[in-house]
Amino acid sequence: MLTKASIEHEKLRVDSPFFKDALAPTRDEATLLSLLDNLGKLPAEFNGELFIPLLTHANPKIRMLAAKNIGKLKDEKFLTKLSQFAANENNTFARREAISAIGRIRSEKAIPILMRYLTDKDPKVILQSVRALLYFKEKPEIQTALDSLREHPNEIIREHLASEIKDKKSRRQNTRKDPHHPTSPDALKNVIAHADVQEVLKLIPDESIHLTFTSPPYYNARDYTIYQSYEAYLNFLTAIFKETHRITKEGRFFVLNTSPVIVPRISRAHSSKRYAIPYDIHPRLTDIGWEFIDDIVWTKPDYAAKNRNGGFFQHRKPLGYKANSVTESVMVYRKKTNKLIDWNIRQYDEEIIEASRVIGEYEKTNLWHINPATDKVHPAVFPPELAARIVQFYSFKGDLVFDPFGGSGTVGHVALTYERYFLLCEKEAEYIERAKQLLDIALFTHAEPRVLSLIELKSGLAERNQNL
Ligand SMILES: C[S@@+](CC[C@H](N)C(=O)[O-])C[C@H]1O[C@@H](n2cnc3c(N)ncnc32)[C@H](O)[C@@H]1O
Repeated sequence: MLTKASIEHEKLRVDSPFFKDALAPTRDEATLLSLLDNLGKLPAEFNGELFIPLLTHANPKIRMLAAKNIGKLKDEKFLTKLSQFAANENNTFARREAISAIGRIRSEKAIPILMRYLTDKDPKVILQSVRALLYFKEKPEIQTALDSLREHPNEIIREHLASEIKDKKSRRQNTRKDPHHPTSPDALKNVIAHADVQEVLKLIPDESIHLTFTSPPYYNARDYTIYQSYEAYLNFLTAIFKETHRITKEGRFFVLNTSPVIVPRISRAHSSKRYAIPYDIHPRLTDIGWEFIDDIVWTKPDYAAKNRNGGFFQHRKPLGYKANSVTESVMVYRKKTNKLIDWNIRQYDEEIIEASRVIGEYEKTNLWHINPATDKVHPAVFPPELAARIVQFYSFKGDLVFDPFGGSGTVGHVALTYERYFLLCEKEAEYIERAKQLLDIALFTHAEPRVLSLIELKSGLAERNQNL
């Protein structure tokens, strides 16, 4: 049997009988796939000719892996074969791998071949040739060709080219530390603003907060706010989340908990109306500049759902089925930036990163089983467990966590539990009282939560501006 060391040794032998046999196109597909996928680095001496017959294998994955392995050799002598392969290959993954292999050769002879794929029908093939051609970007003809793609209908191609222009500058920025990133204004820390969130947001400076986790009013399903129309409701949320985007620090997260709601029917002669809030708000959020990151599904036990099955349970007639809803959406977004999440992490000192690590068991899937919570005052609280996961996964110790629709202050006491600060807005005095009660309990070793009116908040922020 061949050991790992002997395979490494075989790789160096141009006439290796082992590889001749192991890579013969007549070998069974499973063996070929496993070997091609696990060849690892190849020395320049490796006999790349062994891959050529595999470029016509019936299995597209084998063809793709053969092209990929040829690419590792970065040898100009394979240019023609790769070019012919790409020209005849219908499988887009294999075609992309061929373009990648051609790009890796870094030969000027590859330029005309790569140029041909700038008009490929598959965006990922185009992107691969763009990336390969960028190596030669100082050449005027390459610049002209890439310029012509700046308005390409595919968003990833457009974004890639746009970020390439800023590339040098942004690479410099990517390594630079922003000392303000981990900080936030003291005037906003552990504050409950007792006011309409629309007014509060106007006072908050740009890039002040690190994370937002919120559950907005569920349209007109409960009566703490009544909106004229669904459109008016969506417009209201859009305006709030646009401002939230402005006050969020670069590359930081926004997590929104909503679910479709039912507005009950007006009489038995009418049907109830269902509004798909998560789906309707999503395109508005991405338009604002929130980049979609994850869709987490919060699932509750069956008993937590309102029973909508009564009629169907009896009559069992098609079309009358209504599912009991045991889930809510927890949609995760990031303030769009060309900086990587690593950049955000690097803004913190090692001790903070260490102290903020999420230890122990954690949910690895996007299906979160969490029991719902109830409160004796507020009719629609989210469970602390849900907020605890969000706060731990998407913020660091000492960060400022914002909830524009603070309710009973769940985000507040969870933030304190995990040594973050909070900023909440709530317009109803009753819920503010409740939040204060709950926060007083959580805060007894810390400072008092400050319930501030708009005017008080404004003067606190003005004082800060004077001291800057
Ligand atoms: C779904 S509840 C949030 C509950 C909260 N997550 C909790 O755990 O207690 C939404 C809250 O937003 C508040 N609200 C609605 N419109 C508001 C506005 N324009 N300004 C401030 N608060 C508002 C409501 O009074 C309600 O308490």
